[in-house]
Amino acid sequence: MSLTLKSKLSKREVLVVFFDDEKKSLSRWNDKVLKDYVALALEQDFKGKARESLLVYSPSHPQAKRVLLVGMGKRSDIDLNQVRIAAATATKALAEREIRKGVSVLLPKVARKTNGDVLEAFETAAGLTQFDFSDFKTENGKKKKAQAPVEFDYILEDSKELKSAEKFADRGQIIAEGVNWGRELIATSPRQLYPDSLAKKVTAMVNKSPSKKKIRLKVWSEAELKRNKFGGVLAVGQGSDHPPRFIVLEYMNGRKSGKPVVLVGKGITFDSGGLSLKPPQAQETMKYDMAGAASVLSAFKIAVDLQLKVNVVALVPAAENMPSGKAQRPGDVITMANGKTVEVLNTDAEGRLVLADALHYASTHYKPQAIVDVATLTGACALAVGDAAAGIFSNDPKLLTKLQKSGDSVSENVWPLPDFDDFYKELLKSDVADIRNIGRRREGGATTAALFLEEFVSEESSWAHLDIAGCGWYDSPRDFVNSPGPSGVPIRLLADFVESNG
Ligand code: BES
Ligand code: ZN
Ligand code: ZN
Repeated sequence: MSLTLKSKLSKREVLVVFFDDEKKSLSRWNDKVLKDYVALALEQDFKGKARESLLVYSPSHPQAKRVLLVGMGKRSDIDLNQVRIAAATATKALAEREIRKGVSVLLPKVARKTNGDVLEAFETAAGLTQFDFSDFKTENGKKKKAQAPVEFDYILEDSKELKSAEKFADRGQIIAEGVNWGRELIATSPRQLYPDSLAKKVTAMVNKSPSKKKIRLKVWSEAELKRNKFGGVLAVGQGSDHPPRFIVLEYMNGRKSGKPVVLVGKGITFDSGGLSLKPPQAQETMKYDMAGAASVLSAFKIAVDLQLKVNVVALVPAAENMPSGKAQRPGDVITMANGKTVEVLNTDAEGRLVLADALHYASTHYKPQAIVDVATLTGACALAVGDAAAGIFSNDPKLLTKLQKSGDSVSENVWPLPDFDDFYKELLKSDVADIRNIGRRREGGATTAALFLEEFVSEESSWAHLDIAGCGWYDSPRDFVNSPGPSGVPIRLLADFVESNG
C-alpha cells in the first residue's frame, strides 16, 4: 500500500477507475483523459454493474499503460459494502493477470462517506480477498512459495489529505491482517492446532505486538482448570491426549474505571463428537469448531493493533473433543464452575459445556458492560439461517441493537432467533441433575443451546450469543473469499463493536 499525490503521479502499469451502471465515472479525474481511452469500451463491452471489470489498453495514456474499469452498479445504492465488493473485483482481476505492482487507484466518491472511510474499506477488502492458505502445498518437493500480493497505490487529490489517508489505509491493513490471522488459525489442520498450540500462537501474537506491555495474557494449565473447578472444559477435554486450556487476554487501555467488553469464543480445536461420534462427512470440516475462538482473538488483536482506547477481554475455553477410554460418556453427570450439575446425554453438544464455565468466569470475575460469546454451536442454526448470517440471542435488547448496528456497518449480518423461554426451558430439565446438555426434542436446537448458556450468565450481566455454525465457514467462493474455507465472519463486526462500545 502506498499513497501518491495526483500532481506527482508518473506513468504506471494500471490505473483503476470506477463507474456506475449508467457508465458515469465515480472517480473524480480529468475525465477527458479517460474518455479518450475508455469511450469505445464503455459503449460496447462494459455495463458498470457490480462485480464487473474490464481491462483497456492505453499505450499513449499519460498516466497508465492500461486502465482497469470496475463497475459498482446503481449510483444511489453505492455504500461501503459496494466499495468492498469493488475492491475484491479489482484485486481478483489484477491477480488473475499477475499484475501486482504499479497499480494506481482513483477511489470512488461515496455519498455521506469520507474519503478516509472509502480508503479504509477498499484496503480492508483488498487484504481479505488475498487470504491464501497454501502452507501445505508443495512444488518440486519444496514448500510452495506464496504469491506476492497485489499492492495498491492510492491517488490523492490534495496534500492536505495525506495524513488522514495514511491513518485510514493503515487501519484497513490492520483490520485485514487481523481477520486473515484468525482465518489462518481456523484453516490450520487439527494435527497442528490443538489447545496448547493455539495458546502458543496467541502467546507469539502478544510477544510480537508493539503494545505487548499493555496486554495481560494468562494460559491456564489443566491443574489450574481443576483448581477453578472448570468441570465443563475438563469433561470435554478428558477424552483427548491434548489437554484443555483456558486463554485469558486483557487489554485495559480505556478509562480506568471503565467496564470491559468481554468476548468469549468456543475453542473446540476438533469436534469428532466424542463418544456420540459424528459420521465421517460431518467431521470433515470440524477443525473450524474453534472459529468462535479465532473470532474473538482476532477482534482482540485488531483492537490492540489499532491502539483503541478501550477495555476489552477475550476468553477462550479450548479443548479437543475426542472419543477414547478416558472420554466422558452419555449419562455422565458433571459439576460446572458455577456449581450447577449437568447431565451429559450427548457428548457432541460439547460447545455449551466449555462455554458455560467461561461465561460464568466472565460474569463473576469482571464487572463487564457486556459479554458477547461467539460459537459454532449448532447445526440447527446453520440450517435455520444458512451462511448469510449469525444467529443471535440476547438478554438485553439494547446490546442486540448495538451488535446489529456493527454488523450492518461491516456487512456481517446477525439475525435474531426465537428465545421463547417458556416453551424451550422446559426441554432442558434433567431427571437426575440440574440441567441436561441437550433438549428433549431436536426441534429448536439453536434456542435450547442458547438457553443452556444463559443458565451460566449472571442475571445482571448484559449478554449476547452469536451462533456462527453457518456463517463461519463457506463451502463456495464469495466476494472476499476465494476458496472454500474460513469466512472470517464475524471478526470485523466484533472489532467494530469493541471500537464503538469498549
Ligand atoms: N460443532 C457442532 C455444531 C456444528 C454443526 C457446527 C455443523 C458447524 C456445522 C456442535 O458441537 C454440535 O455437534 N452440536 C450438535 C448439538 C446436538 C447434539 C444437540 C448439533 O448441532 O447437532
Ligand atoms: Zn459437537
Ligand atoms: Zn462443536
